[in-house]
Amino acid sequence: MDLKQITHADNVRLSDDGRAVRILDQSRLPNETVYLELSSPEELYEAIASLRVRGAPAIGIFAGYALYVLALQSRETQVGPFVAECRKHRDYLNASRPTAVNLKHMLDRVLAVAESMPCADVASIQDAMGQAARAIHQEDIAMCTAISEYGLSLVKAGDGILTHCNAGPLATSRYGTGLGPLFLAKERGIPLHAWCDETRPLLQGARLTTYELQRAGIDCTLICDNMASLVMKEGKINACFVGCDRVARNGDTANKIGTSGVAILAKFYGIPFYVLGPSSTIDFTCPDGAHIPIEERAGAEIKEMFFEKPSALPEVKCYNPAFDVTDHSLITAIVTEKGICYPPFEDSFAKVFGKGAGL
Ligand code: MRU
Repeated sequence: MDLKQITHADNVRLSDDGRAVRILDQSRLPNETVYLELSSPEELYEAIASLRVRGAPAIGIFAGYALYVLALQSRETQVGPFVAECRKHRDYLNASRPTAVNLKHMLDRVLAVAESMPCADVASIQDAMGQAARAIHQEDIAMCTAISEYGLSLVKAGDGILTHCNAGPLATSRYGTGLGPLFLAKERGIPLHAWCDETRPLLQGARLTTYELQRAGIDCTLICDNMASLVMKEGKINACFVGCDRVARNGDTANKIGTSGVAILAKFYGIPFYVLGPSSTIDFTCPDGAHIPIEERAGAEIKEMFFEKPSALPEVKCYNPAFDVTDHSLITAIVTEKGICYPPFEDSFAKVFGKGAGL
């Protein structure tokens, strides 16, 4: 398969008639390739909650288009009630998942367009909301490309990269974040080897990361999450690259459950641990990881999904937090579209993002 078919696929976009959001249903991969066109509030909410669209930047792109598509359906002709209706849709969609801050950032951004045009007519506001949603998508493409470039500068030919969950084109746009350097390296003929944690319980590493890398012809090996320590000890890993769902001001980072364990192992074995993410994933209002809401999901994901028969008795209690927070002290650097931020992160964020970010 042509590499560009993977790195340049628009897995989230507006439908051809511009009235629905079209996605590749990630919950069906790798076995089925199903595209969905979603337009009702319930369908759009469900797509996020069920991880049909997932990965913080992709959720953000989806959210921008979703609010626009809902705004187009409004029957309100007066600006006040129209904006009030948009606000209701924003609140509803924002409740679909709590951890990835891109969801809130992009809903707020498209809503702010409507709120900033009190003297315009509804059609012009809808138009401007559509432009904002498209701009979010275009900006993500540019950010992921820049992040991939910075990430690639941190490794050398022949390196082994451990990754957790999925931070590739499916979760973003273009090259991805955590996987971006691998795709860029492939494009340039630089050999790297990816070690992919399968990422229990929803197997994003197995189902999505190896799906993307294998089809792109990138050398990759799938391991169970509990094998990472051994692979590191065997000297096969030169760096860890992961994405992020919300980065606090001090650098504490929420990402897929299991990420903090990888960071602790990396510290023990002296392997650099890099978080790669766009500025849209940094929550400058959040002081530290203790303030990041962690999503808890159904126990059935642990006991029943992906097994032919349940793996535990039905009455067994489950605890299924979907994310954990990696302490900033375990992170070697946070790679953003504006540059590579080293600790102390509050200082490097201030230097890179400046006053605009409220720092
Ligand atoms: O629950 P998911 O699959 O949405 O979790 C996704 C992750 O944890 C990703 O690593 C993160 O969103 C970054 S994607 C570039």
